[in-house]
Amino acid sequence: MRIISFVAFFVCLVTTETNAQTNAPFTIKANNLKAPIQPTMWGVFFEDINMGADGGLYAELVKNRSFEFANPLMGWKEQRQAGSNVLIVNRNIEHSPNPRFARVTVNATKPFGITNEGFRGMGIKKDNGYDFSVWAAMQDGSSITLKAELVSPNGNKLGSTLVSISGKKWKQYKVSFTANATEAKAKLNIWFEGKGVVDVDMISLFPQDTWKRRPGGLRADLVQLLADMKPGFIRFPGGCIVEGKDLANRYQWKKTIGKIEDREVIVNRWNTEFAHRLTPDYYQSFGLGFFEYFQMAEDIGAEPLPILNCGMACQFNTAEVVATNQLDPYIKDALDLIEFANGSTNSKWGKVRADMGHPKPFNLKLMGIGNENWGPQYIERNKLFTQAIKAKYPNIKLVNSSGTDQSGERFDYLNGELRKMNADIIDEHYYRDANWFTQNAKRYDTYNPNGSKVFAGEYSAQSKAIGSSENKNSWVCALSEAAFMTGLERNAGVVYMASYAPLFAHVDAWQWTPNLIWMNNLQAYGTPNYYVQKLFSLNKGTQVVPILLNNNVVAGEDSLFATASIDKNTNELLIKVVNTSDKNITKQFVFEGVNKLDSKALITLLKSDDLNKVNSLDEPNSVSPIESTLAVTGKNINIVLPAYSMQVIKVKIIN
Ligand code: AHR
Repeated sequence: MRIISFVAFFVCLVTTETNAQTNAPFTIKANNLKAPIQPTMWGVFFEDINMGADGGLYAELVKNRSFEFANPLMGWKEQRQAGSNVLIVNRNIEHSPNPRFARVTVNATKPFGITNEGFRGMGIKKDNGYDFSVWAAMQDGSSITLKAELVSPNGNKLGSTLVSISGKKWKQYKVSFTANATEAKAKLNIWFEGKGVVDVDMISLFPQDTWKRRPGGLRADLVQLLADMKPGFIRFPGGCIVEGKDLANRYQWKKTIGKIEDREVIVNRWNTEFAHRLTPDYYQSFGLGFFEYFQMAEDIGAEPLPILNCGMACQFNTAEVVATNQLDPYIKDALDLIEFANGSTNSKWGKVRADMGHPKPFNLKLMGIGNENWGPQYIERNKLFTQAIKAKYPNIKLVNSSGTDQSGERFDYLNGELRKMNADIIDEHYYRDANWFTQNAKRYDTYNPNGSKVFAGEYSAQSKAIGSSENKNSWVCALSEAAFMTGLERNAGVVYMASYAPLFAHVDAWQWTPNLIWMNNLQAYGTPNYYVQKLFSLNKGTQVVPILLNNNVVAGEDSLFATASIDKNTNELLIKVVNTSDKNITKQFVFEGVNKLDSKALITLLKSDDLNKVNSLDEPNSVSPIESTLAVTGKNINIVLPAYSMQVIKVKIIN
């Protein structure tokens, strides 16, 4: 995360690359197989930023369900009645991960209520089922019934249910009901009817239409958008959230597994990160924890890539480091995580996984040591992690940080040290303007294919400046990323993985922009950048083949960028071409090394004449792929490359 400003670039993107147009054809050398493309090539980067988890992917509708926010009643409002009240009680010694509960005294003729506002409201759908649950214990001599009721902002009742509480032992009560209307900004009233004292905790409401209809699960529309990309990996849980503002605030995976009510809530580091986008109600419930991340990765066929804290807090915040002689618990967390994911059910952590419902291993192959950490303090700690992990699990491939920037002193130092260590994979981040992306399409052409591999772990073109709330997911940004990505794929022997960042943002609760997918409480849409990522991912092929213009790679000449691959499983050629100029260009494609091509090619086109075009909740498909077919005769084909476009050309080779 860096705060740097740079100038507007729309004009530059067009003018700097529009050289005199050459008539030379594109030559595709279909039998000259180059580097294999890793199945992990195109993936997704998930971080709980912009209400990506609580308030987003994690479908819980109640905010601050266990009264653990710094202000224990944040998100809740009392519907006051004389003689009734709510008292927050702390039983820290008895239940340290979830110490607080609400003690409700009801002593009125009228019911007493508390109202939860949800995450900028609650998204409720007509005819959908809702699962309400609460932990409760009632004091002797009390008689209280609880009514959970969904209401719209103007007071319309959307559905309700009754819960009869009995006994003074803590018990979980569960009931379901159906909503009678759709509402994006509903609230939940909990009415306490009767007389006496009742203790309540973990007040929860979930929709039933979650991903795979798992109770207490994830928002299905959001997971579906990820599944549709067929990502090769999912990186989680971040991002800076891994590091925390200080070490106490770091992400600790062991505190995110097991029973939901035992997962310790902590403040989300993005809560107050940006003064211009304060989100004081942003906490981490960890209902979406490491088990759920692994499960989601498995569901969508992506390799899980957990990133762990390496004993260093965010260097933009406290920069606190743990003393190297006290790093053992951190390293143990890494080793235990591998056992949690892969260990037999007889092992300590493998058993925990099995007890959570997944006896089969998750088959973890990749793990990251630290996020954007830098300096000798990182290398020192990284070496200790690497030695310990490789000694016990030599097959786990480790992802290593090259800091926050893709060049400069910090990067050069880390890149040099890590390559000396023969590091498996080096994570490079680029949050730059669109020009940077088009100008760096050849970045990896000169990297050593026999050295450490690259993970382009976080990138996105910034239309204004990094950290600016004015950044847009405009077409010019997506197009420049597409141009850059041709260089990643062409260098698949060097670049093993790549992911856009960040992934999700709630339109009413974001801190950072741009983002790949935007949502409100009911809908979500993919940005133009999403469609670029998706097209690369769905059309990656298995091996790079050369596509040449004047015998050179296509990386900027005439504002054109291209990469080609072959899918050995389907015998298809997959060509991606990006035209960043304002002119339609007709190119001849000459196919060498093939006997015959199928009589038609499938063209998938992503374009807009307006470089500032964005998608939105109202117009989610302004920039989205359009498919067509093209008749193919012979092995030389003319194809129009429209102005400001990316297209994928897919054609089968007939042997
Ligand atoms: O993607 C947002 C932030 O950008 C990530 O948390 C961090 O790794 C980077 O600086």
